[in-house]
Amino acid sequence: MQQTSEQTGNQRTTWHPKFHFFKDGHWVNDPNGLFYFDNTYHLFFQLNPDNTVWGNIHWGHAVSTDLMHWEHKPTALFAEPDGLGYIFSGGAVVDHHNASGFAKQGEIPIIATFTQHSKAEVQVQSMAYSLDGGATFTMYEHNPVLPNPGLKDFRDPKVVWFAQDQVWIKAVVAGQCVHFYRSSDLRSWQKVSEFGQGYGAHGGVWECPDLFPLTCSNTGRELWVLLISINPGGPNGGSATQYFIGHFDGQHFKPLDNETRWLDYGTDCYAGITWDNTPQINTQRTYIAWMSNWLYANKTPDNSWRGAMTLPRTLKLAQKGQGYVLDTTPAVSFASSNWPVADVVNEHKAIALPDVYSMHFALENNGAVTTLSFSNDLNEQFIVTIDLQNKQIVADRTQAGYQDNGFAIKASMPLSLTEGEPVQIALYMDTCSFELFVADVGCFTMLLFPNASLNQLAINTNSKSANINNLQIKKIDDLAL
Ligand code: FRU
Repeated sequence: MQQTSEQTGNQRTTWHPKFHFFKDGHWVNDPNGLFYFDNTYHLFFQLNPDNTVWGNIHWGHAVSTDLMHWEHKPTALFAEPDGLGYIFSGGAVVDHHNASGFAKQGEIPIIATFTQHSKAEVQVQSMAYSLDGGATFTMYEHNPVLPNPGLKDFRDPKVVWFAQDQVWIKAVVAGQCVHFYRSSDLRSWQKVSEFGQGYGAHGGVWECPDLFPLTCSNTGRELWVLLISINPGGPNGGSATQYFIGHFDGQHFKPLDNETRWLDYGTDCYAGITWDNTPQINTQRTYIAWMSNWLYANKTPDNSWRGAMTLPRTLKLAQKGQGYVLDTTPAVSFASSNWPVADVVNEHKAIALPDVYSMHFALENNGAVTTLSFSNDLNEQFIVTIDLQNKQIVADRTQAGYQDNGFAIKASMPLSLTEGEPVQIALYMDTCSFELFVADVGCFTMLLFPNASLNQLAINTNSKSANINNLQIKKIDDLAL
């Protein structure tokens, strides 16, 4: 269905994304059950089928062959409000060797693992299987596969194959730590360890774990990555995702150090997990996250839908200094033509932009402070300051339209730069979101609800010499999602 951002006079009343996944008329939160099979990426997600606020949670479903164009599919898993409960977050795996035994005629089972959250607020882990490549799922008749061990918060199971021992490992968050379980048939699980005490950020409950191995293409070293979303306690308030890099021996996860690292420093990248069974999965993982924050997710101004996903992203293990970090880049590239950029960049003149766009440029790493001010005719502006002197980026949405419910935030991200190397920036502006990627450094996602598109850009710098190179702007087409 073709969506437009309607405006009354020149004030917006709706903010439908043009190139980010969302579901019109519905509430959406975390991505769930991500797997790639038969040349298709499957995206399941927390869905309220009846409303645009959180509640009555089912698993919605969509598919894509390019991670850009998504086709909505029927609801995949239905809440059992009078039984084990609503269908909370979790993952999915492709069971190539039918370890689960669900296949009877040579099919390849897809196993979805998720939490059921009952009316009495008891959380247990359940599963469902698909024998038709993910088109439909059947609830396992002996659910739950993991009963509640007496914890209020016990959820979001994510399964990974541990090749060395030929077993499946399941990570489940429990309060502010993770419990690891092992299984050879995906049905019965034995707890082997816990991780979390004394490590990482603990400002809130741990949610949506993801554990996977990655081999660094440069050094050939394989390490394990553990993603943990946390709410509240993020670096800029509310929800955010931290990650650990370390060793996993089939039982215990041991991080290389005790530093807290954030996968995305912005206010609006949460509960992200990675796809199972993608090409090149040993060296890169494909990731997507919910583009919101529990601080205000239920109150964002467009009540005709709520909750979009970030751009799909590629995560790679990269060596940095003595250690390793996760490098994040967009997993999609939009085939659109270049927007004309006159030679005005370093003359402090405003540039007229399309409504939604991407922008790439390189900044000389010369200690300068550069501000990008994205504005509209209503005098709203979103200001991004790239401060190479104090080594940080500050994004200020306090004058960018919608301000209520704690939305007026100036958020920052530290920049750990390599001396002498230019700073490569890629940014993506959709109707109500901004995503920024600094190559080899980190990324930053922020929702914005301006009342008209931010289609003017002024660039200012305190540098005496020209310091922005190779500026490229592209208009992104409406993908009609
Ligand atoms: C994360 C989360 C999960 C839970 C789901 C419920 O955003 O709180 O921990 O399973 O959302 O919708």
